[in-house]
Amino acid sequence: MSKLTNCLVKRNTSCVPIWFMRQAGRYLPEFKEIRSKNQDFIKLCLNSNLSSTITLQPIKRFDLNAAIIFSDILMVPYALGQEVKFEKNEGPKLSELNLDFFLKKNEKEFTTILKPVYEAISKTRKKLDNKKNLISFIGSPWTLIVYILGLKKEKNVLDVELVKKKSAEISILIEKLNNFLCLHIKNQIDAGADLVQIFDSWSGLIPTDMLNDYCYKPNLYLVNFCKSNHIPVICFPKGLKNNYKVFNRIVKPTGISIDYDIDPLWARKELSGTCIQGGLDPKILLSDKETMFKKTEEYLKIFKDYPYIFNLGHGLLPETKPDSVNELINFIRNYK
Ligand code: CP3
Repeated sequence: MSKLTNCLVKRNTSCVPIWFMRQAGRYLPEFKEIRSKNQDFIKLCLNSNLSSTITLQPIKRFDLNAAIIFSDILMVPYALGQEVKFEKNEGPKLSELNLDFFLKKNEKEFTTILKPVYEAISKTRKKLDNKKNLISFIGSPWTLIVYILGLKKEKNVLDVELVKKKSAEISILIEKLNNFLCLHIKNQIDAGADLVQIFDSWSGLIPTDMLNDYCYKPNLYLVNFCKSNHIPVICFPKGLKNNYKVFNRIVKPTGISIDYDIDPLWARKELSGTCIQGGLDPKILLSDKETMFKKTEEYLKIFKDYPYIFNLGHGLLPETKPDSVNELINFIRNYK
């Protein structure tokens, strides 16, 4: 059994498995080279040979326990008929939603459009060492809807009035998305992925009185789907602060990924019973070595003898030096 599965599922604490969110991406020169020749990001995600190559790039460089398939959470709205554009230094832009069109998509069409993603998973699985995990992922319905309906006023500010105005549409979308997200999970697992991470990157923007409907319930639905299919699942409800505890109590995922605002000591106490992942602020990798090792050691000490997967509190930043990633991994591997 792989070390990551051993920790996540069997709660074995003999080793701290390591992987990074956004480990394949813009901080790697070899990724930038491929990206510069492929202007259309969606097309790149639908090129199974290239996306498999990109998935394996960080595995070639670093001593990691898992690869995460190179794709995007927005491939799901894309497959449901929305246009998705990534402009330089701006967030993703989606065309206006045509709800009727969206609701008419059937499962067969969806799977056909995303076939290259599944092929990329099979190709990667064949090339990846058996002892390493291949992680698949989805975005939660809420986080996808933030993009699908354009619910943010600015970078980190929710348009609460718009959310209220669109509440009927949001409910319909959550139900529809949950069905397709289950299908996307199943397709990825059938293709050779061995666990799922659910990114709820914008759960921290949800007003408290809407958390049950927009965060806990949809995540629970997806986690229950995974459990009934024996698929280990890690949830990342970023920004929930103290409500991480409520989330964990209700949703009960196999693993929970903490963000950099969560006090690791609090997490160990309040989330006990669930394997914990991540936490370190990705900005720390931009500081000097001493600071990076000191902050990393805090996490390793607190989670000693606890099922803990090393990762960050969000994705690796584009400014990160690949050498820092290597030094960080070596530090963790040699830590006793
Ligand atoms: O982690 C990995 O290495 C696997 C690949 C991966 C990507 N996106 C590739 C990508 C994963 C797991 C994602 C998830 C994702 N995508 C999330 C959840 C995680 C998070 O960051 O909160 C979200 C919210 C998105 C939506 C998205 N896709 C945004 C906001 C952007 C643009 C800005 C950014 O963060 O990079 C993307 C584009 C994107 N997805 C890039 C990559 C490597 C950059 C594309 C480029 O080169 O311009």
